[in-house]
Amino acid sequence: MQVITIVQTKGGSGKTTTAMLLASAALNLGRVVTLIDGDVNAQLGRWRDSFELAAWEGAQKPNWPESLSILSPPESVEGLLSLLDAEEARGVDLVVIDTGRAPIPTPRTSV
Ligand SMILES: Nc1ncnc2c1ncn2[C@@H]1O[C@H](COP(=O)(O)OP(=O)(O)O)[C@@H](O)[C@H]1O
Ligand SMILES: [Mg+2]
Repeated sequence: MQVITIVQTKGGSGKTTTAMLLASAALNLGRVVTLIDGDVNAQLGRWRDSFELAAWEGAQKPNWPESLSILSPPESVEGLLSLLDAEEARGVDLVVIDTGRAPIPTPRTSV
């Protein structure tokens, strides 16, 4: 299992877009992908909502990929490590961790 974390302290620099495109490319290759939405803005968490609410303008709406999971970040480093172990155990090929302006875990819980 590969884990890619997108980190850049500046907001609006393309982190979430990169995470979405990496996930999309891997899904297109048949990989099982998990996105961890480490940004408090939860933009990734709203990706599915946008997908459901989009006006497909006559195009046939595709199914949301079953092999894509979008998860909230754990509260601690230990929780993150446990989550990564669990994802690997269930056969996930790629985990992409999106972050906000401060990398997850938040300063409150980092070690
Ligand atoms: N390579 C790019 N070229 C042009 N616009 C981009 C590119 N990557 C991202 N954007 C746009 O820039 C804005 C911020 O991107 P986003 O991925 O949300 O940044 P971040 O997650 O770092 O805050 C979005 O409107 C996005 O569509
Ligand atoms: Mg973002």
